[in-house]
Amino acid sequence: DREKEGGAMINIALPKGRLGEQVYTLLEKAGCPCPSIREENRRLVFENEEAGVRYFWVKPSDVGIYVERAAADIGVAGRDILLEYQPEVYELADLGVGRCRMCVAGRKGVRERPRQTLRVATKFPNIASRYYSALSRDIEIIKLHGSIELAPLLGLSDVIVDIVETGKTLLENGLELRETVVPISARLIANKVSYKFKHEEISRLCREVSALCRGEEEA
Ligand code: PRP
Repeated sequence: DREKEGGAMINIALPKGRLGEQVYTLLEKAGCPCPSIREENRRLVFENEEAGVRYFWVKPSDVGIYVERAAADIGVAGRDILLEYQPEVYELADLGVGRCRMCVAGRKGVRERPRQTLRVATKFPNIASRYYSALSRDIEIIKLHGSIELAPLLGLSDVIVDIVETGKTLLENGLELRETVVPISARLIANKVSYKFKHEEISRLCREVSALCRGEEEA
Protein backbone atom coordinates (compact mmCIF):
# COMPACT_ATOMS: atom_id res chain seq x y z
CA ASP A 1 0.00 0.00 0.00
CA ARG A 2 0.84 3.66 -0.10
CA GLU A 3 2.75 3.85 3.18
CA LYS A 4 4.99 1.01 2.04
CA GLU A 5 5.53 2.75 -1.29
CA GLY A 6 6.98 5.72 0.50
CA GLY A 7 4.20 8.29 -0.03
CA ALA A 8 2.94 8.93 3.47
CA MET A 9 -0.74 8.88 4.32
CA ILE A 10 -1.86 12.15 5.94
CA ASN A 11 -4.26 11.85 8.87
CA ILE A 12 -6.48 14.90 9.23
CA ALA A 13 -8.68 15.78 12.22
CA LEU A 14 -11.64 17.90 11.17
CA PRO A 15 -13.92 19.69 13.64
CA LYS A 16 -17.37 18.12 13.41
CA GLY A 17 -19.97 20.64 12.21
CA ARG A 18 -20.35 23.47 9.74
CA LEU A 19 -16.77 24.71 10.07
CA GLY A 20 -15.41 21.22 9.41
CA GLU A 21 -17.55 20.86 6.30
CA GLN A 22 -16.33 24.23 5.01
CA VAL A 23 -12.74 23.18 5.64
CA TYR A 24 -13.24 19.81 3.97
CA THR A 25 -14.36 21.66 0.81
CA LEU A 26 -11.06 23.58 0.88
CA LEU A 27 -9.02 20.39 1.37
CA GLU A 28 -10.92 18.69 -1.42
CA LYS A 29 -9.99 21.53 -3.77
CA ALA A 30 -6.41 21.33 -2.51
CA GLY A 31 -6.11 17.78 -3.87
CA CYS A 32 -7.30 15.72 -0.90
CA PRO A 33 -10.75 14.51 -1.96
CA CYS A 34 -12.56 11.78 -0.07
CA PRO A 35 -16.07 11.65 -1.58
CA SER A 36 -17.44 9.14 0.95
CA ILE A 37 -17.22 11.86 3.62
CA ARG A 38 -20.22 13.62 2.09
CA GLU A 39 -22.44 10.55 2.37
CA GLU A 40 -24.65 10.98 5.39
CA ASN A 41 -23.87 8.36 7.96
CA ARG A 42 -22.38 8.11 11.40
CA ARG A 43 -18.93 6.98 10.45
CA LEU A 44 -16.10 8.98 11.93
CA VAL A 45 -13.20 7.82 9.75
CA PHE A 46 -12.96 8.27 5.98
CA GLU A 47 -10.09 7.24 3.80
CA ASN A 48 -8.97 7.78 0.22
CA GLU A 49 -5.87 5.72 -0.25
CA GLU A 50 -5.25 7.01 -3.74
CA ALA A 51 -5.18 10.61 -2.56
CA GLY A 52 -3.15 9.55 0.50
CA VAL A 53 -5.57 11.01 3.00
CA ARG A 54 -7.59 9.85 5.99
CA TYR A 55 -10.11 12.14 7.72
CA PHE A 56 -11.55 11.96 11.24
CA TRP A 57 -14.56 13.86 12.53
CA VAL A 58 -13.55 15.07 15.97
CA LYS A 59 -15.34 17.16 18.57
CA PRO A 60 -14.04 20.69 17.84
CA SER A 61 -12.56 21.18 21.30
CA ASP A 62 -10.62 17.88 20.99
CA VAL A 63 -8.77 18.63 17.72
CA GLY A 64 -5.71 19.97 19.55
CA ILE A 65 -5.38 16.81 21.63
CA TYR A 66 -5.54 14.52 18.59
CA VAL A 67 -2.87 16.53 16.81
CA GLU A 68 -0.63 17.05 19.84
CA ARG A 69 -0.60 13.30 20.53
CA ALA A 70 -0.07 12.40 16.84
CA ALA A 71 -3.39 10.56 16.46
CA ALA A 72 -3.75 13.02 13.58
CA ASP A 73 -0.89 14.61 11.61
CA ILE A 74 -2.75 17.83 10.98
CA GLY A 75 -6.07 19.31 11.97
CA VAL A 76 -8.19 22.40 11.96
CA ALA A 77 -8.99 24.18 15.20
CA GLY A 78 -10.47 27.55 16.10
CA ARG A 79 -8.09 30.01 17.69
CA ASP A 80 -10.38 29.85 20.75
CA ILE A 81 -9.50 26.18 21.22
CA LEU A 82 -5.77 26.83 20.75
CA LEU A 83 -5.77 29.70 23.26
CA GLU A 84 -7.79 27.73 25.79
CA TYR A 85 -5.94 24.38 25.69
CA GLN A 86 -2.55 25.55 24.37
CA PRO A 87 -1.65 22.25 22.70
CA GLU A 88 2.00 21.68 21.76
CA VAL A 89 1.50 21.89 17.98
CA TYR A 90 2.67 24.02 15.06
CA GLU A 91 0.21 26.58 13.81
CA LEU A 92 0.71 26.55 10.03
CA ALA A 93 -1.92 28.88 8.61
CA ASP A 94 -4.86 31.12 9.35
CA LEU A 95 -7.60 29.73 7.12
CA GLY A 96 -9.72 32.86 7.43
CA VAL A 97 -12.90 30.81 7.82
CA GLY A 98 -14.93 30.41 11.01
CA ARG A 99 -14.46 34.06 11.85
CA CYS A 100 -15.98 35.28 15.10
CA ARG A 101 -14.92 37.01 18.33
CA MET A 102 -14.40 36.00 21.93
CA CYS A 103 -16.35 38.58 23.91
CA VAL A 104 -17.51 39.69 27.31
CA ALA A 105 -21.27 40.18 27.44
CA GLY A 106 -23.79 40.95 30.15
CA ARG A 107 -27.43 41.85 30.67
CA LYS A 108 -28.50 44.91 28.77
CA GLY A 109 -28.42 48.03 30.91
CA VAL A 110 -27.09 46.26 34.03
CA ARG A 111 -23.80 47.77 35.23
CA GLU A 112 -21.08 45.70 36.88
CA ARG A 113 -20.22 46.49 40.47
CA PRO A 114 -16.56 47.51 40.19
CA ARG A 115 -15.24 46.48 43.60
CA GLN A 116 -16.99 43.13 43.88
CA THR A 117 -15.65 39.85 42.57
CA LEU A 118 -17.03 39.46 39.06
CA ARG A 119 -18.78 36.15 38.42
CA VAL A 120 -17.85 35.00 34.91
CA ALA A 121 -19.65 32.09 33.21
CA THR A 122 -17.71 30.51 30.34
CA LYS A 123 -16.64 27.44 28.42
CA PHE A 124 -13.17 29.03 28.25
CA PRO A 125 -11.85 29.39 31.84
CA ASN A 126 -8.21 29.86 30.80
CA ILE A 127 -8.94 32.59 28.27
CA ALA A 128 -11.24 34.35 30.74
CA SER A 129 -8.75 34.10 33.63
CA ARG A 130 -5.87 35.45 31.55
CA TYR A 131 -8.01 38.30 30.23
CA TYR A 132 -9.13 39.51 33.67
CA SER A 133 -5.79 38.89 35.29
CA ALA A 134 -4.21 41.29 32.74
CA LEU A 135 -6.80 43.85 33.88
CA SER A 136 -6.08 43.05 37.56
CA ARG A 137 -9.77 42.31 38.02
CA ASP A 138 -10.86 39.80 40.67
CA ILE A 139 -13.13 37.17 39.21
CA GLU A 140 -14.78 33.87 39.98
CA ILE A 141 -15.07 31.43 37.07
CA ILE A 142 -18.25 29.45 36.60
CA LYS A 143 -17.40 26.73 34.11
CA LEU A 144 -20.31 25.73 31.85
CA HIS A 145 -20.47 23.50 28.77
CA GLY A 146 -23.07 25.27 26.63
CA SER A 147 -25.99 27.72 26.59
CA ILE A 148 -23.68 30.16 28.35
CA GLU A 149 -26.08 33.04 27.63
CA LEU A 150 -28.48 31.66 30.24
CA ALA A 151 -26.14 32.32 33.15
CA PRO A 152 -26.57 36.11 33.51
CA LEU A 153 -30.30 35.82 32.81
CA LEU A 154 -30.75 33.49 35.77
CA GLY A 155 -28.38 35.39 38.05
CA LEU A 156 -25.81 32.58 37.94
CA SER A 157 -23.14 35.04 36.75
CA ASP A 158 -22.61 38.77 36.18
CA VAL A 159 -21.10 38.34 32.72
CA ILE A 160 -20.16 35.69 30.19
CA VAL A 161 -17.02 35.19 28.13
CA ASP A 162 -18.16 33.48 24.96
CA ILE A 163 -18.06 33.34 21.18
CA VAL A 164 -20.07 35.94 19.28
CA GLU A 165 -20.54 35.44 15.58
CA THR A 166 -23.59 37.33 14.32
CA GLY A 167 -24.64 38.68 17.74
CA LYS A 168 -28.07 37.10 17.32
CA THR A 169 -27.89 34.90 20.41
CA LEU A 170 -26.99 37.92 22.59
CA LEU A 171 -29.74 40.05 21.08
CA GLU A 172 -32.45 37.42 21.44
CA ASN A 173 -31.57 36.90 25.08
CA GLY A 174 -31.44 40.54 26.17
CA LEU A 175 -27.65 40.61 26.49
CA GLU A 176 -25.19 43.22 25.22
CA LEU A 177 -21.62 42.99 24.07
CA ARG A 178 -19.26 44.74 26.51
CA GLU A 179 -15.69 44.01 25.39
CA THR A 180 -13.90 42.06 22.70
CA VAL A 181 -11.32 39.70 24.18
CA VAL A 182 -9.79 38.35 20.97
CA PRO A 183 -10.71 37.82 17.29
CA ILE A 184 -11.07 34.16 16.27
CA SER A 185 -10.65 32.21 13.04
CA ALA A 186 -9.82 28.63 12.06
CA ARG A 187 -6.14 27.58 12.03
CA LEU A 188 -4.39 24.72 10.31
CA ILE A 189 -2.24 22.94 12.91
CA ALA A 190 0.32 20.14 12.66
CA ASN A 191 1.87 17.59 14.97
CA LYS A 192 5.52 18.53 15.48
CA VAL A 193 6.95 15.12 14.63
CA SER A 194 4.64 14.58 11.64
CA TYR A 195 5.65 17.98 10.34
CA LYS A 196 9.22 16.75 10.20
CA PHE A 197 8.62 13.28 8.80
CA LYS A 198 5.78 14.09 6.41
CA HIS A 199 7.14 17.51 5.59
CA GLU A 200 6.66 17.37 1.85
CA GLU A 201 3.02 16.30 1.98
CA ILE A 202 2.05 18.64 4.82
CA SER A 203 3.75 21.72 3.41
CA ARG A 204 2.28 21.12 -0.05
CA LEU A 205 -1.19 20.86 1.45
CA CYS A 206 -0.61 23.94 3.57
CA ARG A 207 0.54 25.95 0.53
CA GLU A 208 -2.44 24.93 -1.55
CA VAL A 209 -5.02 25.50 1.15
CA SER A 210 -3.51 28.91 1.97
CA ALA A 211 -3.61 29.90 -1.70
CA LEU A 212 -7.27 28.86 -1.91
CA CYS A 213 -8.09 30.90 1.22
CA ARG A 214 -6.37 33.99 -0.15
CA GLY A 215 -8.25 33.49 -3.43
CA GLU A 216 -11.56 33.38 -1.58
CA GLU A 217 -10.71 36.50 0.41
CA GLU A 218 -9.83 38.45 -2.72
CA ALA A 219 -12.98 37.30 -4.56
C1 PRP B 1 -21.83 29.70 19.94
C2 PRP B 1 -21.73 30.65 21.11
C3 PRP B 1 -23.02 31.39 21.06
C4 PRP B 1 -23.34 31.42 19.58
C5 PRP B 1 -23.02 32.77 19.03
O1 PRP B 1 -22.52 28.59 20.34
O2 PRP B 1 -21.56 29.94 22.33
O3 PRP B 1 -24.03 30.74 21.79
O4 PRP B 1 -22.54 30.43 18.95
O5 PRP B 1 -23.42 32.90 17.68
P1 PRP B 1 -24.23 34.19 17.19
O6 PRP B 1 -23.49 35.42 17.65
O7 PRP B 1 -24.18 34.07 15.68
O8 PRP B 1 -25.61 34.11 17.73
P2 PRP B 1 -22.42 27.21 19.64
O9 PRP B 1 -23.34 27.15 18.47
O10 PRP B 1 -21.00 26.91 19.32
O11 PRP B 1 -23.02 26.22 20.75
P3 PRP B 1 -22.74 26.05 22.33
O12 PRP B 1 -21.93 27.19 22.86
O13 PRP B 1 -24.09 26.02 22.94
O14 PRP B 1 -22.03 24.74 22.44
